[in-house]
Amino acid sequence: MRKPFVAGNWKMNTDSHSAVDLAKALVSGAADVAGISVDVAVCPPFVYLQAVTSAISTANIAVGAQDIYFEQKGAFTGEISTSMLKDVGCAYALCGHSERRHVLGETDELINKKVTAAISGGILPILCVGELLEEREAKKTSEVVTRQIKEGLAGLSAEKLSAVTLAYEPVWAIGTGLTATPDQAQEVHALIRKLIGELYDSKSAEEIRILYGGSAKPDNAAELMGQEDVDGLLVGGASLKADDFVAIIQAAV
Ligand code: PGA
Repeated sequence: MRKPFVAGNWKMNTDSHSAVDLAKALVSGAADVAGISVDVAVCPPFVYLQAVTSAISTANIAVGAQDIYFEQKGAFTGEISTSMLKDVGCAYALCGHSERRHVLGETDELINKKVTAAISGGILPILCVGELLEEREAKKTSEVVTRQIKEGLAGLSAEKLSAVTLAYEPVWAIGTGLTATPDQAQEVHALIRKLIGELYDSKSAEEIRILYGGSAKPDNAAELMGQEDVDGLLVGGASLKADDFVAIIQAAV
């Protein structure tokens, strides 16, 4: 049985005060379930990671980074390594979020290096995949997601795969208020799970958690997570409002 997992991606939002206030509100709102019946993580901007980690140190809420770099140290201006993330108490890192793919130009090859480095450095990667609107309209969803998964996971053993969470986030649903219907989400999640079975084995396919992301809100969370292959949610906008994010966490239970 896969334990539900709800992660909040704060993107480039909050400040030093509001980040800590939001973290504290989550601790009080979700203390009864977080880490017990649902895994919960928040991904604040890098500069607030440490403050957020301190604010939630008593709770079963994990902290993740929104990105990671694959080198360990050295002349990589502006980048952050796995050891730095571990040093400030991070457990997870998003890899290949669609905004990094489409705004910052990250390739599958770069994302694969990040996923691989995260695992080697003891950080749990959340590999994000998803098609653009024009790709869906051209009926290329399966082709795009298959390529992103295959290339994103290239070279990883089944043992290393067990550290990975996948997130299906159709780009047309991110921050747009348009959500994939539960059937649309389930269709792609099932395809991804089948692909993991083909690339690895049935045990890996059965165990890997696949989150849905894209305008997840309190009023659609339960239905999305009620789908057989939807194991949780990666939440952007609604994770910035403590009440909404707590309601989504509660919907996972
Ligand atoms: P959204 O973002 O919930 O605001 O659509 C989801 C994401 O980008 O992870």
